[in-house]
Amino acid sequence: MRRRRTWRVLLGVVGLGTFAIAQQLYWRHQGEALFTGQAALPARLAGHADPLPVQAARCINCHGEGADRIGPLLSSATLTTAQARRGGPPSVYDERTLCRALREGVDPAQVTLTRAMPLYTAADADCTALWTFLSRQ
Ligand code: HEC
Repeated sequence: MRRRRTWRVLLGVVGLGTFAIAQQLYWRHQGEALFTGQAALPARLAGHADPLPVQAARCINCHGEGADRIGPLLSSATLTTAQARRGGPPSVYDERTLCRALREGVDPAQVTLTRAMPLYTAADADCTALWTFLSRQ
């Protein structure tokens, strides 16, 4: 009897673990798709009502590895290590503050990002996906 219960608990733990790993992989995959533009995220420039063309709104355009990058590299090192950004006090990002930067163009220290960084209509799921992808880079 006891053995059977142990097996059930073990299977439950393995099942939950597998589910958690699958969920992480899903978010990461979604985040990469949003970052590279395979999945579109509606955006506009601050002060403009018109939407940006999908091609222009891809994060990778400005945050990719290339020399023509105009935005900072986005990784766990740059996002989750405390650093002074734009003259503000040292700050780190988490999922919520990344989301705020995307939606409102304000960083964790309440400093406004330059207008070159678009404003996005990001659902909570988009923020989770981008955060999962970027914070594990
Ligand atoms: C058209 C160019 C452009 C695109 C597209 C773009 N960014 Fe940016 N982004 C910038 C620039 C430039 C900055 C630097 C802002 C500043 O220093 O004021 C920036 C800053 C940021 C920051 C703040 C980093 C920090 O250290 O404070 C984050 C986070 C960010 N971008 C995420 C994204 C994500 C995620 C996407 C795609 C959904 C994206 N950006 C798309 C240009 C862009």
